[in-house]
Amino acid sequence: MLERVGLADMRAWSRAERARGRRIGFVPTMGCLHEGHLRLVDRARELADRVVVSIFVNPLQFGPQEDLARYPRDLARDRTLASDRGVDCLFVPEAGAMYPEPPVARVVPGAPADMLEGAARPGHFAGVLTVVAKLFHLVEPDVAVFGRKDFQQAMLVKRLVQDLDFPLTIDVMPTIRELDGLALSSRNTYLSTDERRGPALALSRALRAMEQAWRGGDADPAAVKRAGMDALAAPGVMSEYCALIGEDLQPVTRATAHTVALVAARVGTTRLIDNVVLGEGIGADPRVA
Ligand code: PAF
Repeated sequence: MLERVGLADMRAWSRAERARGRRIGFVPTMGCLHEGHLRLVDRARELADRVVVSIFVNPLQFGPQEDLARYPRDLARDRTLASDRGVDCLFVPEAGAMYPEPPVARVVPGAPADMLEGAARPGHFAGVLTVVAKLFHLVEPDVAVFGRKDFQQAMLVKRLVQDLDFPLTIDVMPTIRELDGLALSSRNTYLSTDERRGPALALSRALRAMEQAWRGGDADPAAVKRAGMDALAAPGVMSEYCALIGEDLQPVTRATAHTVALVAARVGTTRLIDNVVLGEGIGADPRVA
C-alpha cells in the first residue's frame, strides 16, 4: 500500500524498512509521471524490496527565464499512477521544508556540467546535484534509478555518488519512446497537437540520421553531427545542438558503438532533448531506445 511521507518522516521510514532487512530503491522525479518514470519504478522494484518515488519540482535547477511556474503538476494523478505501479512510498517534500532559506552550501559540479545542457541552462546541474544529494541523504536508498533520456544528468549523478562516496548504486535505464519515436518527457505536455505530430519528431529523426551516418561508415564526429543538424533543420524547429560524447561526458574524436549522440532543439516554446547510443540505435521496438 502506498504511503505518502513528508520531509520530517522520510529518513525514519527508510531506516525502519532497512531494520526489517529490506533494500530501498529510489526514483527521484519532478512529478507529472509518465510511462518512462514508471519503467524506472519497475526497475527499482527488480533491484530492491521497497520503492520510494519522490515528487519535488526543484526551484534550484530552473533558470530565471525557465518554466518553473508552469511546470506540469498533478499530484492526484501521480499518486494513482504510483499506487497502481506498486510504489511503496511517495515522498513529497514541501519547497519550504526542503529550502527553508536559500541554501548557502551547494554541490558545485566541474567542467562536464558546463557543456551541452549546462551551457544552455547555466547553473542547472548545480541545482540538480544539490537536490539529488539532499534527496539521497533523506531517502538513504541502496539504489537509485535514473533515465538515460537525461544522459548528462545521469552521468553527473554517477560522478556525484563516486566523488562524494554516497553509499548507493546508480542504475540508468533506456529511454522510453512513443510509437513514432518521440522520447517520453513531462515537457511533451507543452506541445500543441501540430507541434507534437510534426516538428517534435525532428529530434528522433536527427538521432536516426546520426546513427545511419555512423553505420554507413562515417566515424568522423563532424560528419555525423552534420547529418543530425541537417535532419533538425525542419520547419518549426530551432536546433540548439547535435553532439557526440562518451560515458565520461567528453567529446569523442571518433564515433564508436559506445558513443552517445545527443540533440537539443526548441519546438515553439518547448525545449526538448534526446539521445541515443550509436551502437544500440533507436531500437526495433520503438518504445525503447
Ligand atoms: O530528472 C528530474 O526529474 C530531475 O532533474 C531530478 C533528478 C528529479 C532532480 O530534481
